[in-house]
Order: sequence, then C-alpha cells, then structure tokens
Amino acid sequence: MTIKAAILGFGTVGQGIYQILQTKSSQLHKLLGDEVEVTSVLVHNIHKERFLPEDVYVTDRFDDVLNHNPDVIFEATVGVEPSYSYLKQAIDQHIHVVTANKVMFAAYGHELIKRAGQGTGVGYEATTAAGIPIIGTLTTLLQTNNITKVQGILNGTSNYILTAMQEQNKSFSEALQEAQTKGYAEADPTNDIEGHDAFYKLMILSQLLYEKQPEWSEVPLTGISNLTESDLKSAKDKGEKIRHVATLELVDGELKGTVKPLSLPPTHGLFGIEEVDNAINVTGDLVGSITLRGPGAGQLPTASAMIEDFVQIWQTAPIKQFI
Ligand code: NDP
Ligand code: HSE
Repeated sequence: MTIKAAILGFGTVGQGIYQILQTKSSQLHKLLGDEVEVTSVLVHNIHKERFLPEDVYVTDRFDDVLNHNPDVIFEATVGVEPSYSYLKQAIDQHIHVVTANKVMFAAYGHELIKRAGQGTGVGYEATTAAGIPIIGTLTTLLQTNNITKVQGILNGTSNYILTAMQEQNKSFSEALQEAQTKGYAEADPTNDIEGHDAFYKLMILSQLLYEKQPEWSEVPLTGISNLTESDLKSAKDKGEKIRHVATLELVDGELKGTVKPLSLPPTHGLFGIEEVDNAINVTGDLVGSITLRGPGAGQLPTASAMIEDFVQIWQTAPIKQFI
C-alpha cells in the first residue's frame, strides 16, 4: 500500500513538507511501513509555476484533493477560511490532518479535535513555536504535572527583528525585510509585529493546558512596532535587552495572559534568546521549571514538526485526543 498525502498551500511551509517527504522517503518508509506519495497539492493561484512532477495533481479546488483519496492532509494555507471548512470536511471523511495554521487553530482547534474523536489524527505541533516540540511535550511528557505558568518568546519574526536592532544596529524595516526573505514572517507581517501571532499561540497553549482561555478582551496585547530607539537605548544603558514575551499564568485559579515587549536583565531566562529562536518556560508543580528553545519559524523547522506529527499519528492511530 502507498500512503497518499495531500498538501494544502505550497508556499514556504508546503514546499518544506514536500521536500522532507522526498529527502526522507526511505526513513519514512521504515517508520511507517509504507511509502508516502504526494498525490495532490492545493494552491490559491493555479497559474504559478510549481516545479512538481506531473503525477502530482495541482489544483485550486478542494474537491479535487478529496477525489484523490488522501490518507493525510498537511495544511499550510493562511487564515481561518477556507482552512477550517476544508479540515472539517477531511475529518468527516476520517482523513488525518496536520496543520501549521495557528490563526485557524487558535479559534477552531478544539472544534476540530472534538470532531475527529478517537480515530482520526489532528496534529498541530507546528502551530506553536514551529520547530520546538512544545505541544508534544505538554501532551505526552507532562501529563501529571499541573502547569501553573507558561512564559516565552513565541514569535520568530519579532525576535529576529529585536536581535537585529539591538545587536547589529539595523533598522526595523531592514530587519523585517530580512525576516520576510528568510520565510519567517507571514506574507502580511501585521500579526507578527503587532503581537497577534504570539497571542494566537498563547490561545492554543491555553486551550491545551486548561481546556479554556482567559478573557482575551482583558489581555494586554502589544507588539514591537511602536518600540522607539529610546526604548532600546534605555534597556541597553541598564545592561538589559528588550524581548517580546507572552505569559499565561494561573493566579488564584484564574487565567491571566499578557503579550508585550519587556526589558529583561541578563539573569532572565529569555535574555539570551536570539535571532529566529523561540523559547518557552513551563512551570509544573512536580518538575519545577523547564525551558525549551529552538527555531520558532522557518521552512524546515516548521515542516519538521508537521512530518513528526504525522509519523506519530500514523504509528499510534487511532490516536488519543489531545485536548
Ligand atoms: P506562504 O504565504 O509562503 O504560503 C501560503 C500558501 O497557501 C501559498 O501556496 C498559497 O497559494 C496558499 N493559499 C493561501 N490561501 C489559500 C486558499 N484560500 N486556498 C488555497 N491555497 C491558499 O505561507 P507559509 O508557508 O509561510 O505559511 C503557511 C501557514 O503556516 C500559515 O498559516 C502560517 O501562519 C503557518 N506557519 C508558518 C511558519 C513559517 O515559518 N513560515 C511557521 C509556523 C506556521 P499561492 O502559492 O497560490 O499563493
Ligand atoms: N510568522 C511566524 C513567526 C511563523 O515569525 O513566528 C511561526 O509561527
């Protein structure tokens, strides 16, 4: 048998998935027991050249994807719709889904997981901090711990820009352009630089950890776009660095969240996190404090998370529910 895969979205991440499925084909065959074949790719603009073999069906119609009977769908498009509708349809046909789309998943991830039940896999490791296996760690390795606090740098683009501005004296716009060229920033970078992207990731973590989310209208949400040279200078004068920090905390049983730039002293665990790296510090009642660090954006780290999700789903199906 061949495992049939479809890829929705063939930009930075979609191409990364395709690349890994080719370069790691024999290792995947060993891990999964069968070969994986990409049978269809869904895109927005059907007229763009895609450099794919002729036997991969490229389409802008989701029905065509379903007609190719995929066993798994890798979703790497942009925004809530049509992604949510497509993944609902796929799940109803018992097709495993793996997504990187945090905008959609923050809003509807719990609905998708509920809909999938026990038999169909829903992988979303890549939605939160890309290459860092934070979702897998929380769902499988920290199940007995009560997690009281999560704090981290959750946006690679913001951290890349802040590093370039503070370490290399680059301008905001120059650094943003570099982050776009490297495939870290979204095509429309507003969510990255205004803090929304980190906020979506905090929503996903909150749903996973507590099966609920704070009153988000009360969450202070600030990005890095309004930071001034004087803000950066006064941090530097104190020997500190500005980092964009997202925090989710249980205070007297109530969930509190913040997303904002903070000036951090060298003693703070997030002080030395640079470039596109993200870091997430988790406090558990048994284990204490753990920090995971790694690439928070980029083609291969993101696609890596999606492929690993799929391997785990395929090996353990029917998988357990994540939430
Ligand atoms: P890109 O902008 O590079 O690619 C997006 C792809 O989605 C394009 O191929 C585009 O088609 C396709 N697309 C967009 N809208 C539709 C639609 N309505 N129907 C069909 N196809 C559509 O984005 P990325 O690859 O960078 O990101 C993809 C997803 O992964 C996003 O949700 C992003 O937030 C998430 N993500 C990205 C990371 C990164 O480092 N880049 C890291 C973690 C998550 P076309 O080519 O025709 O324009
Ligand atoms: N644009 C996002 C970032 C991609 O820079 O963190 C990873 O989610």
